[in-house]
Amino acid sequence: MIEVKNLEKHFGSVEVLKDISIHINDGEIYGIIGHSGAGKSTLLRCLNGLETYQSGSANVLGCEVSSLKGQQLRDFQKKIGMIFQNFNLMSRADVYDNVALPLQFCGIKKNSPEAKEKILKLLELVGIADKIHERPSNLSGGQKQRVAIARALVLDPKILLCDEATSALDPQTTGGILNLLLKINAELGITIVVVTHQMEVVKQICSRVAFIKGGNIVAEGKPEELFILPNPSIRDFLGRTPDVLPTTGNNVQLFFADENSGLPIITRLARTLDLDLSIVWGKIENFRNEAMGSLVINVEDKDLEAVENFLKENNVKWEVMEKAGK
Ligand SMILES: Nc1ncnc2c1ncn2[C@@H]1O[C@H](COP(=O)(O)OP(=O)(O)OP(=O)(O)O)[C@@H](O)[C@H]1O
Ligand SMILES: [Mg+2]
Repeated sequence: MIEVKNLEKHFGSVEVLKDISIHINDGEIYGIIGHSGAGKSTLLRCLNGLETYQSGSANVLGCEVSSLKGQQLRDFQKKIGMIFQNFNLMSRADVYDNVALPLQFCGIKKNSPEAKEKILKLLELVGIADKIHERPSNLSGGQKQRVAIARALVLDPKILLCDEATSALDPQTTGGILNLLLKINAELGITIVVVTHQMEVVKQICSRVAFIKGGNIVAEGKPEELFILPNPSIRDFLGRTPDVLPTTGNNVQLFFADENSGLPIITRLARTLDLDLSIVWGKIENFRNEAMGSLVINVEDKDLEAVENFLKENNVKWEVMEKAGK
């Protein structure tokens, strides 16, 4: 449904997207994560024709986006809803009128029975029907984002693009908005592309994620798989590395598919190899459907090989962490 191949985009001499290829399936919630300035918003805007690109291809809903012009482009953009970090609501209009705006652009009167029915249904869906006549200035950040989501859905899009939809919100409000996106995806079957710099967002709702760095995709896959076997260039995003670890011996990080399987392996390891081990760090992370655990143990040099062999034989995913100062 969204097929991007070898996409290149530059602003003058600044090359922002160098070689981007991604495939997003129908009905998927797909994440694009990267540091500030990595080119995430630019990529998103190439998908709905708000930006052009110099080479490569972006095929969205069966159309090559750069080839669309005039009315064709406008018709295409109706099928793609977009929500923004800063909400972009009209301050002088109330909630109803904000959501009605895209309908009016399409020539549908805001007070027509068709418009009323649609808007009321959407305000119910996003949980803000009681604020229908409020102005945005009387709403909290989370409520504003709900209005923006209703507005993005009012033309029945096939795809919803979310640019940092939660980065201005506190963690609890973020959780509410993410649950709403999950509900929209499940109930309306809409494909959602989420651009974010927050790993939490990806972990909570995305079925797959692409990491963008220096204009390239440096890793792509299911969030939990990337967590277990991270590529060094995305390590700083995963927030899983402990701050303080012993500087002597070897720190070995073990990954588990659920929170209960870690300790039994450690006790079995200690018993089998007759070793004293210290557990120096541990964390459980929740992904959309599963919990993943990680423990760091400290192992003396003389025991390292035996420990590695044991882990290999028991199919545990692990890595020996770099020693401090390296
Ligand atoms: N219209 C423009 N003209 C010139 N340069 C631009 C334009 N839009 C973006 N850029 C540059 O492209 C690069 C990527 O910008 P982009 O907004 O896509 O990053 P981002 O990953 O979304 O960052 P953030 O997380 O801060 O939103 C930046 O260096 C930015 O300065
Ligand atoms: Mg951006």
